[in-house]
Amino acid sequence: MPRQAEPERPAKIRVNHLAKIKQSGGKIAALTAYDYLAAQILDRAGIDVILVGDSLANVVLGYPTTVPVTMEEMLHHAKAVARGVVRALTVADMPFLSYQTGLDDAVRNAGRFLKEGGVEAVKVEGAGAVLAVIERLVETGIPVMGHLGYTPQSVHRFGSNIVQAKTAARAGELLNDAIALEGAGAFAVVLECVPAEVARPITERLTIPTIGIGAGPHCDGQILVLHDALGLTPRSPRLAKRYLELGEMISTAAASYIRDVREGAFPAPEHCYEMPEDELRALGEESGERKGR
Ligand code: KIV
Repeated sequence: MPRQAEPERPAKIRVNHLAKIKQSGGKIAALTAYDYLAAQILDRAGIDVILVGDSLANVVLGYPTTVPVTMEEMLHHAKAVARGVVRALTVADMPFLSYQTGLDDAVRNAGRFLKEGGVEAVKVEGAGAVLAVIERLVETGIPVMGHLGYTPQSVHRFGSNIVQAKTAARAGELLNDAIALEGAGAFAVVLECVPAEVARPITERLTIPTIGIGAGPHCDGQILVLHDALGLTPRSPRLAKRYLELGEMISTAAASYIRDVREGAFPAPEHCYEMPEDELRALGEESGERKGR
């Protein structure tokens, strides 16, 4: 079926715009970012949503999973991203144990992302007990994005089972969880690593947008980890398209720089600062006098 013409995007994307994009048949483009400069580049390129993902843990901080990343680490990066963004909707991931330990903790920590971090919404993983967290945050005035399917903070529960909802029964449960998330007030839901045939009916059933990562083409939007999309990570999962091989480009550039420094080819005259002629003469005379002393 031919796709409808892309709807016009507002000058500033707010949470309510995402549902409007869905209603008008548009697609939401989202990427992660963890620093000011990348956020600024993505924002200027026209990205709709920038997520300060807790994938920060893996791709920037070198942790093996997203479990160890702290509120302070997430906030530090959320602030940098928020400073670089004018147009996109900015969302920050609530790190593991920042919302599972009680509703008051959840409000305090989510509130810090808005008050100190400068982002506009938070993302939490899962359903079940997390539904009460979403309700409480939304009541408090904090917009919440949900995250279902493979939820990386539960890595130790999932083990090596990455693709979720592969049975009809589990697909039904996932649909119910997504409906519950919408009922709790989430403004969008990330679906990670689920078959396209499962993401499609969820997307059709919900009025809030689904944002897929490894969830096929029928979701209302797509998100990728920036470092995968740019080819900065040495390997990326099957779900990611690598738009560049930036890691290789950086490595080639670094090798050229090292060679230039070692061979004296850098810095060249155009990289050096000059003294005014008369000062240069005076410097020569002064050093001549010094030598003659
Ligand atoms: O942390 C993250 O980058 C995410 C996206 C993959 C959705 O949660």
